[in-house]
Amino acid sequence: MKICKTISEFKNWRNSNIHENIGYIPTMGALHKGHLSLVTYSKLHCDKTVVSIFVNELQFSPDEDFEKYPRTLEQDLKKLENHKVDVVFIPTTSEIYKSDFSILINELDLSQKLEGVSRPGFFSGVTTVVSKLFNIIEPSYAFFGEKDIQQLIIIKKLVLDLNFNIQVVGCETIREASGLAMSSRNQYLSDQDKKDASILYETLQLGQNLLKKNETVGETKLQLKSKLQNNKKIKLDYLSIANGTTLEELRDNVKLKNEQVIISAAIFFNDVRLIDNIII
Ligand code: PAF
Repeated sequence: MKICKTISEFKNWRNSNIHENIGYIPTMGALHKGHLSLVTYSKLHCDKTVVSIFVNELQFSPDEDFEKYPRTLEQDLKKLENHKVDVVFIPTTSEIYKSDFSILINELDLSQKLEGVSRPGFFSGVTTVVSKLFNIIEPSYAFFGEKDIQQLIIIKKLVLDLNFNIQVVGCETIREASGLAMSSRNQYLSDQDKKDASILYETLQLGQNLLKKNETVGETKLQLKSKLQNNKKIKLDYLSIANGTTLEELRDNVKLKNEQVIISAAIFFNDVRLIDNIII
């Protein structure tokens, strides 16, 4: 497995693999089975698989966990080696952002909803770094987890609007046996909290069942919010039932039709922020 720390090192490798079909998985490290499932998809569909590990400061607000974000490079590299990844790109912050860096890529519609309300600046940081990484890696396919569904939808829009010649592939959320969606931030939870936090997925499943039984969006939301808010360890950030393409919130009197709907929520579980969703 080749490890590239600079853009020029990576470009050298890329230029000698110019005709290869490159599958790419951008990550911030602290790799878990969710990331590794993206590697497996890429290995199945592409000639060569590239993973980047870069904790992108630009997508963290000053009050978020950039400093304490789990950094587990040695273990990450072992996992990638075991999964037969071809190249790992691990640039430093100054390699990606020169000191006079002054251009941002901003999505103006989808990024204003859901996560964008609670985390202003987050998607600007994501779309900026992903655009830069796409230009450096020049992949044919890029793989993202459906757990961060809004990020996936925005990146698909980024690729369309900025004419990147890249196929963005969404891959299903990988879960613990309890149902808790795998996330690098789960490392902040105790084993007991990991079990208890599965209430988030249970709640989303309840929402799916209610909507499928023809319950209205308004009544479904009431039931889901009360299930979450009755748990003392949880502070609810948002609960949403939205159109799966536009991310517009569905009106309270609406019932499930044939269009795609996303039930999503963000909670603080003992102060650890968790997100999850179900796509219906
Ligand atoms: O999902 C993530 O880990 C990050 O947002 C990404 C896509 C690697 C950009 O920093």
